[in-house]
Amino acid sequence: MTADGDSKKRRAAQAALELITAGATIGVGTGSTVNFFIEALAAHPGRVQRAVSSSEASSARLRAAGIAVLDLNELARLDLYIDGADEATAERHLIKGGGGALTREKIIASAARRFVCIIDDGKLVQTLGTFPLPIEVIPMARSLVARQLTARGGRPVWREGFVTDNGNHILDVHGLVITDPKALERELNQITGIVTVGLFAARPADVLLVGTAQAVLTR
Ligand code: 5RP
Repeated sequence: MTADGDSKKRRAAQAALELITAGATIGVGTGSTVNFFIEALAAHPGRVQRAVSSSEASSARLRAAGIAVLDLNELARLDLYIDGADEATAERHLIKGGGGALTREKIIASAARRFVCIIDDGKLVQTLGTFPLPIEVIPMARSLVARQLTARGGRPVWREGFVTDNGNHILDVHGLVITDPKALERELNQITGIVTVGLFAARPADVLLVGTAQAVLTR
């Protein structure tokens, strides 16, 4: 990512900080934009004291920032989830999972009352699918699932050498033009061996904070 891209991500992350009620317990996602958000939290001690996290990497950063990381099972309710995305549409449908944390991200997004997605303006698209769609699979089902994705017109590529925090593998599916994200998410969820599809359409973001060169747009 360029210095310009980083400053857009930082701007979106900073805007998310403004949405947090002091002392709230929040959900925190994964990725370089979220890392800027955690940096912003670290610069405001006490703003967030407890969080649930979508990855071991974010958990380590949160703890280093003095924030306690809770198990989602300990919480009866979660008001706010902050996370990035790889692509987003005007309908706030997302592709996520570039960092491989899609399963825990989807769980936390589903638990949260409000999902605020922080992105730079390069991630806004008319139609999802230019960014290869990450799909987390049970390792023994990788080839079986890949054949079914190929039959549906995708080009699945195994993210070799990468193991998710859940011990699974990722297929990055190229060549999809996703005109109906909800329908595709529903359809792919039926394939045995798939753990999580990186399409967030059934549960889209509630708000997009889009960092541009000059400002942050709210969508
Ligand atoms: C991780 C994700 C990230 O939110 C997504 O990959 C965006 O990352 P970045 O902020 O580094 O561009 O879904 O699984």
